[in-house]
Amino acid sequence: MFLKNQTQRIKINSKTPEKIKIRKAATIIKNGGIVAFPTETVYGLGANALNPKAVKKIFLAKGRPFDDPLIIHINDFKDVSKLALDVSPLAEKIMKKYWPGPLTVILKKSKLVPKITTGKQKTVAIRMPCNKIANYLIKESATPIAAPSANLFGKPSPTLAEHVLEDLDGKIDLIIDGGKTSIGLESTVLDLTSDIPVLLRPGKISYEELCLLGKIKLDNSLKGRKLKNLISKSPGMKYKHYAPNAKIILVKGETKNCMKKISSLIRKYHNENKRVGLLATTKKTSYKSDMTLFVGKTNKTIAKNLFESFRKFDKKGIDVILVKEISDSELGFAIMNRLEKAAYQTVKA
Ligand code: TXA
Ligand code: MG
Repeated sequence: MFLKNQTQRIKINSKTPEKIKIRKAATIIKNGGIVAFPTETVYGLGANALNPKAVKKIFLAKGRPFDDPLIIHINDFKDVSKLALDVSPLAEKIMKKYWPGPLTVILKKSKLVPKITTGKQKTVAIRMPCNKIANYLIKESATPIAAPSANLFGKPSPTLAEHVLEDLDGKIDLIIDGGKTSIGLESTVLDLTSDIPVLLRPGKISYEELCLLGKIKLDNSLKGRKLKNLISKSPGMKYKHYAPNAKIILVKGETKNCMKKISSLIRKYHNENKRVGLLATTKKTSYKSDMTLFVGKTNKTIAKNLFESFRKFDKKGIDVILVKEISDSELGFAIMNRLEKAAYQTVKA
């Protein structure tokens, strides 16, 4: 009989983490293993970023294409000069302002970083998380940690340890369960390799906020044109992401028209014997959907609950998820970006 490998699970309080428990995870990283851990954004799947064999295990466990580079997590500013070259004064200023926190920067890579970690790119993605467990894990591992989101490739990023286990149980050495992640969407990714920074992935640190520091360009993939026609500077952006098994239908237009459209879509899918889910931002709805999930009224709560809701719909065997667009300013830009990437179809109301 084929026996799956065991994934150890340790529960840690993220506000006052028990350091002794984290040391166990750090030992695994030091020995070339892979460990899932919470960050303030989503759970990451970590390995020693400087050990090609360990990093390979991440790609294999996730089923991630080898050309999709990983983010290197650090807990000391000094590591930037080891991992990256030609760090401009503007880059220094941005890192100092936002770290530790949910911002990833792209810089020119140094020779120390193995090719596999950066998917053969000449650049490297670096971030300093602000989650205490993540920080202590990096410190105790005594090495920068490469970590993509800890989901199977193409699935929604995990915001709970349960989500990681759904996707990766038996494929990873250990998971640190630190409860629900506080932001719920992945970090903002900012390319600092050219004179004018380029936003590659919107996140909690918003485009509007970054623009206060000076001119910021948007990557092609964020300009609202069709994904397949564009060449993005971020290798991972060309892949469909974050999608649940259920088909997401994103409804765009004026609120009144959207409401009518959603009602008619529910009827249409019911006629096709499909189970319909509704992602709601108000508690009271009169729609006749089979399952309604209230993700919250504010962008903060929507971001926090979005990926979890995708997984909840899947668990209940929902076939189609209807979502109305939200305003794409500030954190709304990141939410809409994830919804658009996950959507099977966008319809105009
Ligand atoms: O919040 C986060 O960023 C989480 C937590 C675990 O830190 N990590 C995460 O990693 O979302 P991942 O691998 O799922 O997404 C990293 C994104 C991908 O779209 C990848 O293509 C892009 O960053 N990226 C990484 N290195 C890059 C590089 N050198 N140039 C351009 N894009 C890069
Ligand atoms: Mg990911």
